[in-house]
Amino acid sequence: MTMSLDGAVAIVTGAARGMGAEHVRGLVAAGARVVATDILDEEGRALADDLGDAVMYRRLDVTDADAWDTVVAQAEEAWGPVKVLVNNAGIVMFGPIESLSPSDWQRAIDINLTGVFLGMHAVVPSMRRANGGAIVNISSTAGLQGYANLGAYVASKWGVRGLTKTAALELGPDNIRVNSIHPGPIRTPMIDGVSLDMVKSQPIPRVGEPEEVTAMLLFILQDATYSTGHEFIIDGGTIVGATVDVPDT
Ligand SMILES: NC(=O)c1ccc[n+]([C@@H]2O[C@H](COP(=O)([O-])OP(=O)(O)OC[C@H]3O[C@@H](n4cnc5c(N)ncnc54)[C@H](O)[C@@H]3O)[C@@H](O)[C@H]2O)c1
Repeated sequence: MTMSLDGAVAIVTGAARGMGAEHVRGLVAAGARVVATDILDEEGRALADDLGDAVMYRRLDVTDADAWDTVVAQAEEAWGPVKVLVNNAGIVMFGPIESLSPSDWQRAIDINLTGVFLGMHAVVPSMRRANGGAIVNISSTAGLQGYANLGAYVASKWGVRGLTKTAALELGPDNIRVNSIHPGPIRTPMIDGVSLDMVKSQPIPRVGEPEEVTAMLLFILQDATYSTGHEFIIDGGTIVGATVDVPDT
């Protein structure tokens, strides 16, 4: 059993660059029509121009409930009910809890967690009209364990994981699957300038590439038709465990 993406209408957030842009390319290659959304208009329009008629760019700040309604209405008017939602937009805020400003905390929660809620809230009625579909929420390995100096990010990504499970329970009867992807370090502008020494101790000791995450996204959408509410981890094995050195005897 598979879910065909041929002619399917998809919305991707944070689509102007990084993983989101790769997801748009992958969806188009699989036959979907994609509303690529972001707040980086120039990059978003360039991507849409590059990919042709199967992509339209629309500005969407994921924290703006009214803008969500507008984008869903525009997608449906142009191409029909929405079958796929990829909640990918996200930001990272660095700093220990004692020095992280409340406004930075709030901004991370607003974009990374409330944005995912608003997306599902806006899209589900359209997905029902499509007789079902699939939602993929992009969490992180930071939604599976703690990371010092990433408190707001970690809290938001754990929230995405829990919200995904709740949505899966609520929407299963409507033939809508909801899953989360949990990437480890992936080569995108988000981690420019971040020390990546930690990848050396992973079982697969390298940074991941966006297209590897897109492959997992397409697997979830097209092939994982009996999976919902679950975590799909793509992290080079980084959270698998730690290596204990054999002591000298
Ligand atoms: N790169 C990594 O190592 C990594 C690891 C785990 C999870 N992630 C997650 O993957 C997703 C994609 O990140 P990326 O690495 O491609 O980063 P990125 O910074 O390249 O892309 C994120 C996109 O989200 C957009 N965005 C930010 N705020 C927005 C808002 N309010 N409304 C709409 N769009 C907004 C940005 O403009 C950008 O285009 C994020 O949710 C991120 O948390 C990234």
